Amino acid sequence: MGERKFLWGVATSAFQIEGSPFADWATWDERLRAHPDVTHHYHLYKEDLKLLKEIGVNAYRFSIEWSRIQPAQDRWDDMALGRYLEIVRILREEQIEPVITLHHFTHPRWFLEKFPWHREESILKFAEYVKHIVEAFGEVRYWITFNEPNVLLLGGYLDGCMPPGVKDQTSYVHANVNLLLAHAEAYDILHGRNAQAEVGLAQNMAVFAPYRSWSPLDRFLARVAHRYYNLSLLEAIRIGRLRLRFPIFKKIEVDLPLRGKLDFIGVNYYTRIHLQFNPFCRMGVALRYEDREGNGLTDMGWEIYPRGLEQVLREASTFGLPVMITENGIATADRRKKDWYIKSHLDILEGCLKKGMDIRGYFYWSLMDHYEWLKGMDARFGLYRVDFETLERKATPVAKFYSFLIKRRSGTFLL
Ligand code: FCB
Repeated sequence: MGERKFLWGVATSAFQIEGSPFADWATWDERLRAHPDVTHHYHLYKEDLKLLKEIGVNAYRFSIEWSRIQPAQDRWDDMALGRYLEIVRILREEQIEPVITLHHFTHPRWFLEKFPWHREESILKFAEYVKHIVEAFGEVRYWITFNEPNVLLLGGYLDGCMPPGVKDQTSYVHANVNLLLAHAEAYDILHGRNAQAEVGLAQNMAVFAPYRSWSPLDRFLARVAHRYYNLSLLEAIRIGRLRLRFPIFKKIEVDLPLRGKLDFIGVNYYTRIHLQFNPFCRMGVALRYEDREGNGLTDMGWEIYPRGLEQVLREASTFGLPVMITENGIATADRRKKDWYIKSHLDILEGCLKKGMDIRGYFYWSLMDHYEWLKGMDARFGLYRVDFETLERKATPVAKFYSFLIKRRSGTFLL
């Protein structure tokens, strides 16, 4: 393989900057009533894409909003499809590599009402959508089938904090299986159209630590959470068998035709979580974000823990596939905190590359402020600040700093 550029990028997801009247989340979260189009990126995208050039990234991770492409089960919207094609065309013109996420948490409402992931037909419906996309976008090289399937499954089918709001173990297990099979279908469809395609998942990975280091129960929980949350889906694809051994489950093992259906692992890394055994909490565990190293917490309440990036990259690397940091970022309006967050994580990344880990890219989350799933409009992750009333985008000083950091490193990160 010839020389390949390290991908320096920023990431967004369609719904979080565009909204969509046809999506499940549009009616799920009342806060969106005041801002249904969020940043109005749906119409302002050409201006927003110029910001990429301004920063100087060579890659852009974005998602296609399924509910805009297929607003009703029997209706495909060509205009919506054309707009996403236009985004790819503009990126190509600017020599920015598109990395497309097919599914980033949201669904068309009709899909979730009739074919939620715990129903087997979900696989077929998702495959129809993927075929439709792939016919139009076939030559795109980098694809992410699902963003954070672990979060989607836990939030949607066990904890109930995300659509469809189910809290049921059996549904959760079925959803797990169907979603993995849908990933495998998408993998085959993408490769059928373009043998050069590189198809990954973006996995949310956290560092889990015992709240009380002396407590065997806290230590046990941290180990289980790590194996289960960080690794179980990736392991299922590697060995072709889904094994769920979370303490609350009976042991579940199911063979699935998944083996080898992954070309790279996307890692979304944000924080470390301390776990405390507590019989009064759901599932017997309290999740805590602690500022144990004095780096501070983000506006999400998350610990800033740069060293954890190396830990999760090491874990992801054990699967023997290239790794890409598909998200890493901080919600804060404090410029110095944001500067430090980015710089310290990039330093860790540089160290990992020097140690020989096969890491292909880094995507800062996020290009601009957006709607944040469980938090609304107050979590300022953006390199560009968005005024949600006037829709003005304003470069934060951090945008320049990120530009500077990646320019300085881009010469050295040739693979
Ligand atoms: C990740 C999601 C992304 C964004 C960040 C903060 O879990 O993939 O959409 O909300 O968290």
